[in-house]
Amino acid sequence: MNVEIDLRDLARDIAREAGDLARRRRAEGVSIAASKSTLADIVTEADREVEAFIRARLEAERPDDGFLGEESTASESRSGITWVVDPIDGTVNYASGMPSYAVSIAAVRGGVTFATWEALAGAVDVPALGETFDAARGEGSRVASASGTSRLHVASEYPAGALIGTGLGYDPATHAGDIATMQAVMPLARDVRRIGAAAVDLSYVAAGRLDAYFERGLKSWDLAAGSLIVAEAGGSVVELPEDPFGRRMTIAAHADLAASIADRVRSVN
Ligand code: IPD
Ligand code: CA
Repeated sequence: MNVEIDLRDLARDIAREAGDLARRRRAEGVSIAASKSTLADIVTEADREVEAFIRARLEAERPDDGFLGEESTASESRSGITWVVDPIDGTVNYASGMPSYAVSIAAVRGGVTFATWEALAGAVDVPALGETFDAARGEGSRVASASGTSRLHVASEYPAGALIGTGLGYDPATHAGDIATMQAVMPLARDVRRIGAAAVDLSYVAAGRLDAYFERGLKSWDLAAGSLIVAEAGGSVVELPEDPFGRRMTIAAHADLAASIADRVRSVN
């Protein structure tokens, strides 16, 4: 077995355990612990508890690896590998009782940004929907559910136009620009979805459920696992330079569609 497969299997096992914990806590009721960057950007007690659980599991298994998570202080790597973790991606869905929330866990080498890391392995568990997506570098990507495990492939044909996922930032000051971008992309679209969890959007692109996904302002933990799952499903993930709010644009799709979306994004920014 190669190291990427070991890392993927560990990410998958811990993501599933963490997903179970998040789902149990959701059933017991959710309390908002705080607002972060804006009032709309919330964290629940469960986000913190699930991150602490994942961190403790990783530290026990791989004490020399670094850690970067959404809800706690980062630690440096001594092994060269860092775990990039979103304990609950889609916290607003989680708090609102909607099922599209996910645990996202990735192992990367090098830096801890999309531009600087080499992603080795990742898992996205969607506990309320009973699916786990995962990937190991060079080994493809998969989805597992009660009905079995299957390999993922991005869509390459969309005769009726592309089904495109996107998201809006939590800062109302950014909404007008994001809506202008959406308008510019619409001629390529059959329809749009705003699922509310970047890791789920990316996993759905990998699975060919969405043809494409684009969003500004994603953080490393939002896209570390999902972007590898897209790439290993034959897709392309590109980042465009920062907008005036300091947010990079992430686009995930089959390479040709990603390039067409990038052209349209650039036409309005
Ligand atoms: C958010 C979700 C959302 C996206 C935001 C992310 P969080 O992550 O992925 O879909 O629009 O940009 O921050 O805060 O729920 O972990
Ligand atoms: Ca989160």
